[in-house]
Amino acid sequence: MARFNVTKKLTSPIDGQKPGTSGLRKKVKVFIQPNYLENFVQSTFNALTTEKVRGATLVVSGDGRYYSKDAIQIIIKMAAANGVRRIWVGQNGLLSTPAVSAVIRERVGVDGSRASGAFILTASHNPGGPHEDFGIKYNMENGGPAPEGITDKIYENTKTIKEYLIAEDLPNVDISAIGVSSFGGPEGQFDVEVFDSASDYVKLMKSIFDFESIRKLLTSPKFSFCYDALHGVAGAYAKRIFVEELGAQESSLLNCVPKEDFGGGHPDPNLTYAKELVDRMGLGKSSSGEPPEFGAAADGDADRNMVLGKRFFVTPSDSVAIIAANAVEAIPYFSAGLKGVARSMPTSAALDVVAKNLKLKFFEVPTGWKFFGNLMDAGMCSVCGEESFGTGSDHIREKDGIWAVLAWLSILAYKNKGNLDGGKLVSVEDIVRQHWATYGRHYYTRYDYENVDAGAAKELMANLVKLQSSLDEVNGIVKGIRSDVAKVVHGDEFEYKDPVDGSISKHQGIRYLFEDGSRLVFRLSGTGSEGATIRLYIEQYEKDPSKTGRDSQEALAPLVEVALKLSKMQEFTGRSAPTVIT
Ligand code: G6P
Ligand code: ZN
Repeated sequence: MARFNVTKKLTSPIDGQKPGTSGLRKKVKVFIQPNYLENFVQSTFNALTTEKVRGATLVVSGDGRYYSKDAIQIIIKMAAANGVRRIWVGQNGLLSTPAVSAVIRERVGVDGSRASGAFILTASHNPGGPHEDFGIKYNMENGGPAPEGITDKIYENTKTIKEYLIAEDLPNVDISAIGVSSFGGPEGQFDVEVFDSASDYVKLMKSIFDFESIRKLLTSPKFSFCYDALHGVAGAYAKRIFVEELGAQESSLLNCVPKEDFGGGHPDPNLTYAKELVDRMGLGKSSSGEPPEFGAAADGDADRNMVLGKRFFVTPSDSVAIIAANAVEAIPYFSAGLKGVARSMPTSAALDVVAKNLKLKFFEVPTGWKFFGNLMDAGMCSVCGEESFGTGSDHIREKDGIWAVLAWLSILAYKNKGNLDGGKLVSVEDIVRQHWATYGRHYYTRYDYENVDAGAAKELMANLVKLQSSLDEVNGIVKGIRSDVAKVVHGDEFEYKDPVDGSISKHQGIRYLFEDGSRLVFRLSGTGSEGATIRLYIEQYEKDPSKTGRDSQEALAPLVEVALKLSKMQEFTGRSAPTVIT
């Protein structure tokens, strides 16, 4: 057994290591500065209680983006030096974010050990490569992201750090081969276990869904399917689950080989960035041929999803509502009923209507998955989702891109039980339109202004808050812009009191609520790596079934105009159009 020593290295604080909504995300060139990663990792160890580090088992893996392989070796060496007993690594350093959550909660190591936390190496949907983004975040023993108490401590530690521990002479571990490597250190044995990235996750999915009924759907000549991993880590799971387990054609997988730079693309599953899929589904400018019945995409670390039907886009806000409305019948895991449902504040109120009709507990939380995790740990929520292409359930404590696709396939399989041999297929579009007919439709769109000057973004937001002090004034301005929109009846900054731990989160987005249920929401993104990103969320409720079939941008045009003029978007940002519309 190779032996290693522990070296204490002197260091000093580096500015700007405050973790955002989902960890620390910076350009690779920032991460590769001397001591940058080391400072953050040591600050994390120092923020955890001793038993979560010394003698503990930790997972280290991620979406495989550029710099991951180097980072994994550094973290292994620092873990060994800090007294960690075991490190688990997915083969080739690959584990999707939901798979990490599943591994923490479910996996038992070859020696019977269980993990108590994880370093996830990802910048999610941000591009990768030497000139793009890298990221790191820490997840806790429940499988969810570290709570603010811990991330604040990590940040405080980064501001005072003086030294870190590393086993410099520990040889690099071959993370491409499954197996255990053991080393001897000053405090005893240290193991690195490399394991198959997909097995634990596949097992969990099989315990949630009826794979047999999905298989019947996917292998039916009436159905066709397409999945785009955008060169992210979802590819490692898509082949195993959709092709090997469920019988989909290999040709139905697009971009399913994980790449360090995501093929030069932007691994974010939306109508702008998932271009190939969008074309294939008949929604693009260069679409040709008959599109498949169902298409989906994932982001770099596979926690996000976009669901499409033939020439049809399902908004994420509708997606979670439709999953919640059908979960009990279509998904075995939920057959005993839903404990409750939840959405983030900017997500449309489609889920609220389902919750009301089905008499389910309902929660509106700030943006960020950790708020759902608390509710789930307390047994108060089964299904939740966000407008930002995140959907999930209490099977883990992260959102789950492949789970969402399996949920949709389950609903399709359920609705088509009698149709696969004869009869007309119930399509994705049919399911969504039927849902609107029953519950009404929430027209919804989001405008993103990326990489705006941070000062200008702050001023824009401050001005919107100031306006809220007089609704009469606001209504005067609104009427001057468009006379055909409803009255603003409430304006505030969203604030949340967590019903489980009582913690209060302030300044979670600026809301303007209209008399007819319409909403305008303005928020600054918490996940960008440069400048500021302003998000504008626009929503309008239509209950009349004869009016739920309109084009969404057309239906929302009056509200969009009000939002842009009321906020003086162009004046503050200098932008005449958003970077992305979803
Ligand atoms: C990450 C989090 C999500 C959150 C999203 C918001 O993906 O996991 O829970 O909705 O960031 O991003 P934003 O850029 O809007 O802060
Ligand atoms: Zn992600």
